[in-house]
Amino acid sequence: MKIAVLYGGTSGEREVSLSTGKGIIQALKNKGHDVVGIDFSPEKISEILKLDVDMVFIGLHGRFGEDGRIQGLLDMVGLPYVGSGVLASALAMDKAKSKQIFSSNGILTARSESYDVTKRETFDSIQKHIEATFNLPFVIKPNQEGSTLGLTIVKEASQIRKGIETAAQSDSTILVEEYIGGREVTVPVVGQKGKEQALPVIEIIPKNDYYDFDSKYKPGGSEHIVPAHLDLSLTERLKEEAVLAHQLLGCEVYSRVDFIINENNEPIILEVNTLPGMTPTSLFPDSAQEVGWSYDDLIQKFVELSSS
Ligand code: DAL
Ligand code: MG
Repeated sequence: MKIAVLYGGTSGEREVSLSTGKGIIQALKNKGHDVVGIDFSPEKISEILKLDVDMVFIGLHGRFGEDGRIQGLLDMVGLPYVGSGVLASALAMDKAKSKQIFSSNGILTARSESYDVTKRETFDSIQKHIEATFNLPFVIKPNQEGSTLGLTIVKEASQIRKGIETAAQSDSTILVEEYIGGREVTVPVVGQKGKEQALPVIEIIPKNDYYDFDSKYKPGGSEHIVPAHLDLSLTERLKEEAVLAHQLLGCEVYSRVDFIINENNEPIILEVNTLPGMTPTSLFPDSAQEVGWSYDDLIQKFVELSSS
């Protein structure tokens, strides 16, 4: 097949995407495809059309790549692509919206509030509302961002203002969530619509205090335990809820669903990633390896599932 791989882009996760893109391009070449890599910007769409490709593999992360916009552009010009469509991508990227869908379908989420931060003069009243609503510690993050960019774990009241300002740099809406202490796990989901399967659950043991940007992407920044050492019923529940979350948003082909296991041994969903990282330190490929799929096999599987 002739496949265009889009990588890079303009989001805060550009560097992550460069690494994801490199991996995907090499894997597709290893599988015998004719591959064109494109550091994506919207004006390149006419160039991509001239290439006459059979399929586009979106190796972008974050805004404009993972949030449904590029998917909409590709739909409009009639180019088939790998993975989730416009609506699922947009919903998954919007943490507040997706959490509403999860909790109204019985999947536990952290208690949260979202705030419009387009006007600086409202920051005082937002801060007051947060102080009155949440006990320390809690988390402030941009509503639409990835790789923990712009996230603050607020342990002292003096950190609140900075936390609001930091998150507001990445998005016009911020999300404040109660902090759930516990084990961090993630579940890759893959398959045809309605027939998805969950791959082995991974537990993440970050070297830093929490799974921040460096723990995610520095070699040795975190340890991945695959399969996670959890009892069978909890493992089954995580897998079922991961597939359900993927389906509730209408995701296609693949996604990775992140959870924290709280002190009562219950999974609390964090989010669904429709374009999870495929870098050398990423989680999805490690889980696939556990069921005998190499990185190259996994990427090929995504293409096949998107072609059928
Ligand atoms: N947002 C990053 C790429 C991930 O979820 O893997
Ligand atoms: Mg994410």
